[in-house]
Amino acid sequence: MRSETRGAAAAGLGGWKRDCWAGELRAADAGREVTLMGWVSRRREHGGVSFIDLRDRSGLVQVVLSGELAAWGAGLSPESVVAVRGRVALRPEGMANPELPTGEVEVAASDLRLLNRAKTPPIYTRDLAPRQHGAGGEKGSASAGERDAEGETGEAMRLRYRYLDLRRPRMQANLALRHRMVKAVRDYLDARGFWEVETPFLTRSTPEGARDYLVPARNAPGKFYALPQSPQIFKQLLMVAGVERYFQVVRCFRDEDLRADRQPEFTQIDIEMSFVEPADVVRLTEGLMAHIWREVLGVDLQTPFPRLDFAEAVASYGTDKPDLRFGMRIADLTAALEGCGFRVFGEAARRGEVVRGLAVPGGAAVFSRKDLDLLTREVQKFGAKGLVWAAFEPSGVRSPVSKFLTGEEVDTLRRLVGAGEGDLGLYVAAPPDTAAAALGHLRLHAAERLGLRDTAEWCFVWVVNYPLFEPDEETGGLGAKHHPFTAPFEEDLGLLETAPLKVRAKAYDLVLNGWELGGGSVRNHSREVQERVFEALGLAREEYLEKFGFLLEALEYGAPPHGGIALGVDRIAALLAGEESIREVIAFPKTTRAACLLSGAPSDVGTDQLAELGLRTRDRTFEPV
Ligand code: AMO
Ligand code: AMP
Repeated sequence: MRSETRGAAAAGLGGWKRDCWAGELRAADAGREVTLMGWVSRRREHGGVSFIDLRDRSGLVQVVLSGELAAWGAGLSPESVVAVRGRVALRPEGMANPELPTGEVEVAASDLRLLNRAKTPPIYTRDLAPRQHGAGGEKGSASAGERDAEGETGEAMRLRYRYLDLRRPRMQANLALRHRMVKAVRDYLDARGFWEVETPFLTRSTPEGARDYLVPARNAPGKFYALPQSPQIFKQLLMVAGVERYFQVVRCFRDEDLRADRQPEFTQIDIEMSFVEPADVVRLTEGLMAHIWREVLGVDLQTPFPRLDFAEAVASYGTDKPDLRFGMRIADLTAALEGCGFRVFGEAARRGEVVRGLAVPGGAAVFSRKDLDLLTREVQKFGAKGLVWAAFEPSGVRSPVSKFLTGEEVDTLRRLVGAGEGDLGLYVAAPPDTAAAALGHLRLHAAERLGLRDTAEWCFVWVVNYPLFEPDEETGGLGAKHHPFTAPFEEDLGLLETAPLKVRAKAYDLVLNGWELGGGSVRNHSREVQERVFEALGLAREEYLEKFGFLLEALEYGAPPHGGIALGVDRIAALLAGEESIREVIAFPKTTRAACLLSGAPSDVGTDQLAELGLRTRDRTFEPV
């Protein structure tokens, strides 16, 4: 016994070698001599014996310390790192723990080595709230107070001590799932002749609609690299280079407002192929998704996935990333209600507005007056002036506006949204975009309330027939709906100069359960068409030559027809894991203010470092407290 290592706070391995995973021990291992290494997850004293749950990446096993080791084990702090030698034994009669995979056995320690004593962790290293579904993870019940620790207030601490947070079985399962998913992607694409090629991070701006992260260039004072928003231009150049089938699991950088499904740096599965039409990319992607779901969850997806026109998606679901796990389609009632006595509806068309609504199945009994007032405030956030509701009950309709409507008009309200007895109709009169956004939001809200968002149901849909351009509110001109390299439908080429908003794009977005998983397109492989698109976007010739001249030049040296797609790794992993935020599947994510609470980035830099870069920060103004 090396008592000298026991007294010290930390020791090396001293020649010990781990020979099995703690979480893999089973009854069949009884009698085996093992050396385990890991963390003290929990410790209990009982009748002169010390029990510790020894945890490693695979799970945990109970270790029994008796005799001289018991007293010593009693002093072990939680999360200390230890090595244990001992013999696997069946637990005594009646002491098995059916909740634990290793619950039939324990390890009777013969020797123990303290490798590093731990301070008391400031956050939990066990799971508190049960996860929704997915691979692995310890289920456990949690009190409301404990759950708070995982909620809004707890997240800052979780990110500050991420290395402790990541010790939780749920987070370990998420990291493992993400690894398996990316491996499945590489295997699938490798088997189909795709090469993974790396593209530069220190590059020029690649527009994808967000702000760039800039890196000052020391050798060219006053000049900057931009971190790529995507490898879009380089993957196209690889097609010109004759690579034909390219992919990359690649980090992208976008300085944009962050949400649960957005991070400033995130990972794409970026794909590009030569000699393809949209249908080829769509088919490859469907196969890829089916392969991932089979490998990671053991689920067989039904392919091909359904397709939905962009215009139809927005009209029927209020968004181009519809959640199709439930119906509640939005209906248009503008024409049917024109001239009706309730002026908000009757005169909507005259004001350039639309009247749209949807039916919440069984909603009449679920939503209280208070809930409905809350819903009204929700739609107002989207700019709608109000919300009309109508509860269709056996005794008749209940609605604040029924007194303004004829029986026939009430019947129109019911019929056009497809409401039956017990359903709740919700209606908004507003400009088309506002009505779509407000009702799209209500639809999701109602589905959540009715428990229709089952995280183990997978409703994929391709959204297609996008317009190439959209009005750009800031400039008053046009912006690219996807990015400026997307090809127009050939039959719409003639409209590029005359009616650009009517031009359809060879683009497709993949949506799953209301999340945009990916998007792609066939690209402009002719310089002439690419230039016409830049012109339609209102870019001056000097400007596009300066920014994209190198791409235009490349298109003149034998660029094959090509197209591709990029899929969000973080989003796919989050959905597979049943998580609501991509932060849960990223090892070291940033906060919504793009800060890394662990390392303290972004941070100040020294004036000498700035001087070297030829930079000076503006004098900080005094900020009163
Ligand atoms: P797009 O901009 O649609 O297309 O991006 C593709 C996918 O990347 C993911 N994604 C993000 N994930 C997390 N945080 C973000 N901030 C974020 N932004 C995007 C989404 C999205 O669907 N070059 C084109 C693709 C192409 O045309 O081939 C592109 O980047 O899942
Ligand atoms: P008011 O006449 O403003 O008191 O509104 C009467 C009812 O119509 C209230 O329930 C409002 O929430 C609703 N309402 C008002 N404006 C709209 C609108 N643009 N769309 C739908 N409902 C509205």
